[in-house]
Order: sequence, then structure tokens, then C-alpha cells
Amino acid sequence: MSYDLTYKNWIDDPISFWEERAENISWIKKWDKVLDDKNKPFYSWFPGGELNTCYNCVDRHVLNGRGDKNAIIYDSPITNKKTALTYYDLKNYVSKAAGALVELGVIKGDRVLIYMPMIPETIVSMLACARIGAIHSVVFGGFAASELASRINDAEPKVIIAGSCGLEPGKIINYKNILDKAISYSDVKPSKCIIYQREELECTLIKDRDYNWEELINKAKEVDCQPVLSTDPLYILYTSGTTGVPKGIVRDNGGHAVALMNTMKMTYGMEKNDVFWAASDVGWVVGHSYIVYAPLLYGNTSILYEGKPVGTPNAEQFWRVIDEHKVSVMFTAPTAMRAIRREDPNGKLINKYKMKSFRNLFLAGERADPETVEWLQKKLSIPVIDHWWQTETGWSIAGNFVDLGLFPIKPGSTGKAAPGYIIHCLDKNSNKLKANQLGTLAIKLPLPPGCSPTIWKNYSLYKESYLKEFPGYYSTSDAGFIDDDDYISVMARTDDIINCAGHRLSTGSMEEVISKHQDVAECAVVGIKDKLKGQIPIGFLVLNNNCISSHEEIINQTVKSIRDSIGAVASYKKSIVVNKLPKTRSGKILRKTISLIVDREKYEVPATIEDSSALDEIIESIK
Ligand code: COA
Ligand code: AMP
Repeated sequence: MSYDLTYKNWIDDPISFWEERAENISWIKKWDKVLDDKNKPFYSWFPGGELNTCYNCVDRHVLNGRGDKNAIIYDSPITNKKTALTYYDLKNYVSKAAGALVELGVIKGDRVLIYMPMIPETIVSMLACARIGAIHSVVFGGFAASELASRINDAEPKVIIAGSCGLEPGKIINYKNILDKAISYSDVKPSKCIIYQREELECTLIKDRDYNWEELINKAKEVDCQPVLSTDPLYILYTSGTTGVPKGIVRDNGGHAVALMNTMKMTYGMEKNDVFWAASDVGWVVGHSYIVYAPLLYGNTSILYEGKPVGTPNAEQFWRVIDEHKVSVMFTAPTAMRAIRREDPNGKLINKYKMKSFRNLFLAGERADPETVEWLQKKLSIPVIDHWWQTETGWSIAGNFVDLGLFPIKPGSTGKAAPGYIIHCLDKNSNKLKANQLGTLAIKLPLPPGCSPTIWKNYSLYKESYLKEFPGYYSTSDAGFIDDDDYISVMARTDDIINCAGHRLSTGSMEEVISKHQDVAECAVVGIKDKLKGQIPIGFLVLNNNCISSHEEIINQTVKSIRDSIGAVASYKKSIVVNKLPKTRSGKILRKTISLIVDREKYEVPATIEDSSALDEIIESIK
């Protein structure tokens, strides 16, 4: 069925549309209602339904005679290891890991925090939680101890599962040290930790708190899947918010399974025996949805790649993996492709591999610049499809849909609204803008299944962050436009979030860290365009009179403090000292204007500016 017809069918009867798709999931008890809208603006999908997500991802494939099929292929050029787990292996491993959690006292509804590198045990841990109805919260390895501590405080995990280390090109990251530090900072103290010892760096376990993964699991009993409600949380995934405090995005079980299952065919055009590869990290939403849940729900083989696009050890690894494991569809961030292109501009390394199975390349996570899209289209000779989504939605808001027949790709645009979403471009008074006018992209409520129903323990923050700005809509905080053909282009954020190498970072939280420096009176952190990473943060500091340290020391200390407090992933490398920050007469820092200046874009001097010489100083400082 065509895109237009499918979209129309959904608009005409969204309840039947989703009810039909829900039949592709195995339910223990069918839902009482497809959509509960009695508590507007909060909605729930498939209330009353009971299922188990792990059963749908693992057990049912084994029961359907597909146990010998590979569920996960782990390919790690960083350790030179390759292994595969069949659905049968995965079922046994996950059942035991779930048994280990039960032995440590984890019950349905308890939180389990997972701080692990890109190894199969991370996926096993997530599925083990899902199996017993525990709520997992995976934290990306590139975050520092205090970020981890803030997530421990919010999620209040009964157990933490961590790896002894993560591996980055040329260095070993001591995860266990970071974990111990985080627990020492946090107010909430998890009583038990399970540590997966990697041979690259074994760590010392703390008596009566730490358990060795292997020993625990070897002696654990296998446990079965527990029924959970469709509306019960499957996981919490923290993401940057505007306040500097990470927001715990909650995902339910039922709507999530239905939505992700639907995308595997509709969006990615996957067939049952295909191999899917999301070259992301399990710590991000793309990893949750498309390394773990969606490919396994659909019964595909999913690639777990522990490496980088370049430098582990070269720029041909992506093409090697596609060729070697017969990948049909790949999904990655444009920044990864820019990194490859920088090293192999003529695509010589691409030509080394036949990649006969490779049908479509999907991009997301940040704006896909037309140059990169066009280069990839030319070098790969397959559709290169941009699609737009957020941690909050869990699957794409807009894109191009393989199973519905691809419509022409317009590089620079993220395609059209996915069936399930009505997207309007609004001005600040909630008026719909005309085609091609820039405004905030907002989604008409209700959000479709799979989207976050709330923020962990914080309905009011959810309302405040997403539902207040435009009544009747979810505000994406993305600025963009919709053209005459209904193609959506996402251009920038409307808040303080920047997108650095596909990672979502809050400049507000960086300002909070820098402001703690004894010599800093005030500061502004903005994103500056970067050829590789899209954007990187840069800070402007105003210092106190009679500083204790020298300017150079302060610059170095602020750079280090971001690394120590937020993590290396923030890529904060530059602070600049200025005498004054440009402000309005009411004292608001003109961050947007600073941002335009550092990107050497056109800007207007706001009529309300307090002292325009502050702008001149910013211009001078970046010359
Ligand atoms: N654990 C610990 N540290 C990590 C980490 C992890 N999981 N991931 C990244 N880091 C560290 C890196 O080692 C680096 O530290 P350094 O400053 O000491 O060198 C820092 O965080 C920044 O890392 P990264 O953003 O990966 O930048 P890079 O310069 O090392 O590599 C790219 C650049 C483009 C190759 C890389 O960012 C990339 O592959 N991006 C794709 C991201 C992606 O897939 N996003 C998901 C959205 S779909
Ligand atoms: P995250 O929640 O980390 O997935 O980041 C979500 C944000 O990334 C969105 O709000 C956008 O700002 C940006 N983003 C994601 N996909 C795209 C895309 N295809 N084009 C432009 N921006 C995107």
C-alpha cells in the first residue's frame, strides 16, 4: 500500500490502524481498549493488556522453530572478537541472568541501572529485566561519575549491572572506578552490583556489595517471563533537558512493542531473514530501539558493533561489517559517515566490498547535511534515507518508508510524517505557519504508541516540558519547516540543547558546571558548527575581579571540569574569556545572537541590547 493511502487509512481510523498492528505481538491478555484518553493530555495505549516484551523478543522465536537463527552478532574490531548468539542461546542466557536478578531480590517494578560497554551482556541484562518486569535504565559509558550519580538518585535502582571497563580507541575506560565514584556521590546507595569482568581490565570487587557476573549467572536458575501490563514501564532512559537535570524518559511495554514491530516492515522494509545494523550505542535511544528491541521483536539478526566508524583501526570497518554479516539495512548518525568520508573522500574503501545484501542506509540523530547524503548516494548507489526522531518518541516522527514505496528523497529534508503522527509547524502563538515558513515543529496529541507517556516520577515536568507551549500538541523543541510537498526539514533546536556527534547535550548543564569555578562570574555556552561533529560546545566566561588563577589556568580548569562532571562525550575543548556577555536590558544573556556570531551567520543586533560592545568583543574573540 502506498504512503499516501497508508497515512490516510491511519488518519481516518487510527484505532483500527493500531489494533491491527497490535495483532503482530503475542499478548497474554488482550487490551480492554486501544487508547485511553480519559486523562487528557495524558494518554495510554492498550490499557488492560498484558504481555512480556522479552517473550516477544526471544522466547516466541524459539517456540516458533527459529531458535537456531542468529539473534545477535557481536563484532568488535576493538578487541578482534566476533561471536554470535542464536535465539536459543539468547533465551538460555537471558533466563539465567533474570534468575540472578531474582536471587538478588529484584522484583517487578524495581529499577536496575545498567552501565555497560557494547557487549552482548548489555543486551542480555536489558532483556533479563524485561523478563521479570524490572525497569532498566541504561547509562551511556561516556558520561562521568556525577552524571551517573544523578541518574542513580533519580532511578533509585535496587541493583546496578556494570562492566569492568569500556574500550575506546587506544585507551581503556575504567567503568568500575566511575561506578564506585558515582555511588560515593549519590544519595541513593544501591545495595548490590553485578560486575562483568572484561579480560582487558579486571577490577576489584567490593565485599558484600559486588557480585561477579559469571559466577552469579552460572549458578542461577532459569526463570520464565512474567506478565506485565501494557502500560507498565519497560525502561527509563535519561536524556538532556533544558534545566541541566537529565529527564528520565519512560517507555511502556505494550505501545512500544506494537510501534517498533510496525516500523521494521513499514519504515525499514525488513524481511524475516534479514540482518539489521544500527551502528549506535546501546546507551542511546537508537541503540535501545534498533540494536535491541525492534530487530529482536521482528526476529531479525541484529549486529552489535563495538568500534568506531574510523580508527578501529580504519575507515573501512562499516563496509566490512555490512559485507561480512550480510547486512540489509543500516542505521547510523551522519557524523559517522562524515568521519568516514573525511578519511576516504573518493570512496576507495567502499569499492573494496561488494555489499550485495545492502539495500538501504538510514540516517538520524542530527541534521543530515545534503553534501554527505549526496556523497553516500553516489558512492553506495542505494537509497540514503534521513529520518527524524527523539529519545522521547523512540521511533521516527518523519521519514521515508521502504514498504510503502519510497517517495523521492530531498537531501536536507527528513521526509514526510510517519503514519501515527500529525506534524504542524507553529508560531509562538500556536498558529499554523504556511509552507516553508520556519517555526517550531509540534505533534498533535495523542502521540502514537511507543512514545514516552511521561517522565519518571514527574508528570508535571512532562506537562511543563512538552505539553504547555502549544495546547493540544507535543512540542518537539525542534525548529524547522514543512514544504509544499509536506516534506519536513529539521534545522535546529529551540532550546539549549546542542547535537554533538549525534549526542544530545545541554549547554545549560555545562554552564552550571563552569559557574561553580571560583573565578567565573558568569558564562554562556553555545554550540559552534563543526565539520565532523555537527556542533561542538564553546564557552564564553566573564571572570571576577581579583581572580585567584591566571586566565590560562581558568580556561584549562573549566575544560577539565566539564570532562570530569559531564564526561568526555561533551567534547568541550574551548573556553574564551571576555569582559562582558551581550545581554538585554533586562539582563537576559543573548545566547542565540552569540550562537549566530560564532557560526558566522547573519544576525540582528536586538533593539533591547544593553551594551552592543559586548557583541564586538565576541566577534573579536573568535577571529
Ligand atoms: N565510553 C567512554 N568514553 C566514550 C564513549 C564510551 N562509550 N564514547 C565516547 N567516549 C569518549 C571518547 O573516547 C572521546 O574521548 P576523548 O575526548 O578523550 O578523545 C569523547 O568521549 C568524545 O567521543 P566521540 O563523540 O565518539 O568523538 P570522537 O572524536 O572520538 O569520534 C566520531 C568522532 C564521529 C567517530 C564518533 O563521535 C561517532 O562515531 N559518532 C557516531 C555517534 C552515534 O552513533 N550516535 C548515535 C545516534 S544515531
Ligand atoms: P536524541 O533524543 O538524542 O535522539 O536527539 C533528538 C534530537 O536530535 C532531535 O530533537 C533533533 O534536534 C535531532 N535530530 C534527530 N534526528 C534528526 C534528523 N534526522 N534531522 C535533524 N535533526 C535530528
